[in-house]
Amino acid sequence: MSQRRALIVGASRGLGLGLVRRFLECGWDVTATVRRPSEALAELSATGPLRIEEGVDIDDDAAVLRLRTALVEVPDFDLVFVVAGVATQAGTPAALLPREVATATFQTNALSPIRFAEAFHRRIRPGGLIALMTSKLGSVSLNRGGGWSSYRASKAALNTLARSFMGQHSGADWGLALMHPGWVRTDLGGRRATLDVETSARGMVEVLEARLGQRGCAFLDHTGQTVPW
Ligand SMILES: NC(=O)c1ccc[n+]([C@@H]2O[C@H](COP(=O)([O-])OP(=O)(O)OC[C@H]3O[C@@H](n4cnc5c(N)ncnc54)[C@H](OP(=O)(O)O)[C@@H]3O)[C@@H](O)[C@H]2O)c1
Repeated sequence: MSQRRALIVGASRGLGLGLVRRFLECGWDVTATVRRPSEALAELSATGPLRIEEGVDIDDDAAVLRLRTALVEVPDFDLVFVVAGVATQAGTPAALLPREVATATFQTNALSPIRFAEAFHRRIRPGGLIALMTSKLGSVSLNRGGGWSSYRASKAALNTLARSFMGQHSGADWGLALMHPGWVRTDLGGRRATLDVETSARGMVEVLEARLGQRGCAFLDHTGQTVPW
């Protein structure tokens, strides 16, 4: 079997950084993208085959196109995982949030990952996977408390756009995984979260490795459990 190859998008810190570390530990060849240089990511170069692409803002179509051009000579990927996301003023109810903040959250969390998937799906090897980082908070049926309303809505929109994207590519020889990482201690998840990055990343890598070769669209958490839509 040839070496597995992953493209991890949004790897400067938090879960993206943790996923790069874990994929390298598991013997994958990793290409990781950041907006700005990340010392923590650069340090991982010592631990395995890691290529870093800077200046990749997923909200910038020209930057995504530049990345596609930069990677045109490299072999196709088994996994393209868009991890990047934001939770700006997540505690403010949607009705009170400045419109530009709500719009930016929707752009980064819902629209941009799908545009990235559209730009890169031809770079997936047969039997490979596109993974998009969503959240259990994006589950409509599990929404009881309603907090983080704009963030929730952006992830619910991502889930819906992903299912539409899969519908548009129904004959594809790759699959799509919407991943919930658990509640994880990162800048976004906060200090009270129940999981550390290592545990979440370890679980997600195991789930994604098991998912290779399967088509269709699944909504899974870091333990492999299906999350209800
Ligand atoms: N932590 C949790 O409990 C939790 C739970 C459910 C889902 N998630 C999801 O997991 C993903 C990662 O979150 P995290 O907890 O690791 O958060 P984090 O520590 O705040 O990291 C966010 C990452 O996204 C990148 N990013 C944000 N906007 C971007 C853009 N426009 N283009 C490119 N990169 C961008 C950031 O890059 P910069 O360093 O350049 O800002 C950073 O690498 C997000 O999609 C989040 O919604 C997290």
